[in-house]
Amino acid sequence: MSQTLSVDRSAELSLADARRRSQQLEAGFLADPGGYRVLTGDRPTGPLHLGHLFGTLHNRVRLQDLGVETMVLVADYQTITDRDSPASLPRDVEELLADYLAVGIDPARSTIFAHSQVPALNQLMMPFLSLVSVPELARNPTVKEEQAAAGLSTASGLLFTYPVHQAADILFCHGNVVPVGKDQLPHVEITRVIARRFNQRYSPDTPYFPEPAALLSDAPVLLGTDGQKMSKSRGNAIAIGASEDETARLIKAARTDAIRQITYDPRARPAVSNLVLLAALCLEREPHDLAAEIGGGGAAGLKQTATEAVNERLRPIRARRSALIEDRGYLREVLRTGTAVANEMAAGTLADVQRLMHTAY
Ligand code: TRP
Repeated sequence: MSQTLSVDRSAELSLADARRRSQQLEAGFLADPGGYRVLTGDRPTGPLHLGHLFGTLHNRVRLQDLGVETMVLVADYQTITDRDSPASLPRDVEELLADYLAVGIDPARSTIFAHSQVPALNQLMMPFLSLVSVPELARNPTVKEEQAAAGLSTASGLLFTYPVHQAADILFCHGNVVPVGKDQLPHVEITRVIARRFNQRYSPDTPYFPEPAALLSDAPVLLGTDGQKMSKSRGNAIAIGASEDETARLIKAARTDAIRQITYDPRARPAVSNLVLLAALCLEREPHDLAAEIGGGGAAGLKQTATEAVNERLRPIRARRSALIEDRGYLREVLRTGTAVANEMAAGTLADVQRLMHTAY
């Protein structure tokens, strides 16, 4: 009992800490955008959805547009932490690239790459693994949750160690800002630990790796159409690239409640409030105002407003996406170019690491 309490409390403290650091970063971006290198990424396990759009993608584009250097990672090796690599992967990666470019990630300003194609990045996993203990890895709550969610009775070696691989993703390019959701905080923490220990052991006079900060999004969390966590595997997510008809169908089937008057009250009425939030985000309106406006229109009125709002908001993004997905040659070229940049950075970092670790012969 007391142990549970202390674990919860330390999680809360580190969340408060991460929030504070995130706020300081925002001020820093405005004052000195060139002082930061952002690294973010996604597993190519399916099309990105509206939760991604409002949770992280808009923020990436915003940082890119502020002039902050942005590295965007296609985390293909992470897909095999809990499943086999599917034959559909090349297509899945193209879909992800189309999502990125359609929402405004600009390959002329941001570097998009796949980590399986960057050997020197992967080689950093060796020294990094030597800097963490088995109990430290075994404590990671996100890894435990992912193992449970995948229905696995035990973790593969890669699932167990992937947070260390993620540290290599971040540190190979000296990323110092990692925009993430709360679930990723343990991984950013292990990255900070690895950077600190590497510096202490191998570069005590001038720290070689930065200790990256998590940048938490202040966007409200969008749930799926069933009121649960939005996720492709639950069939409750509206993909960015979904058609207008599919969007209408998903929203029509969304859960609501029996109260006719529409209000925004996420605690008492999570499902209805989530649809209000969805429409409000798309319309850039305040959710309480929008709910009041729908008022006695009931679930039908709410769904109509939400469907129109989503389809209207996504129309230009979807038009760009359709054109991009037809041009596979271009998508591959974007990835090849970004991967070449990443390879150059990784080779430089690995050479430095080998020198610092006395393994350059
Ligand atoms: N683990 C992240 C996810 O599941 C994806 C990811 C891989 C990542 N490497 C990263 C995110 C490095 C931030 C930084 O969404």
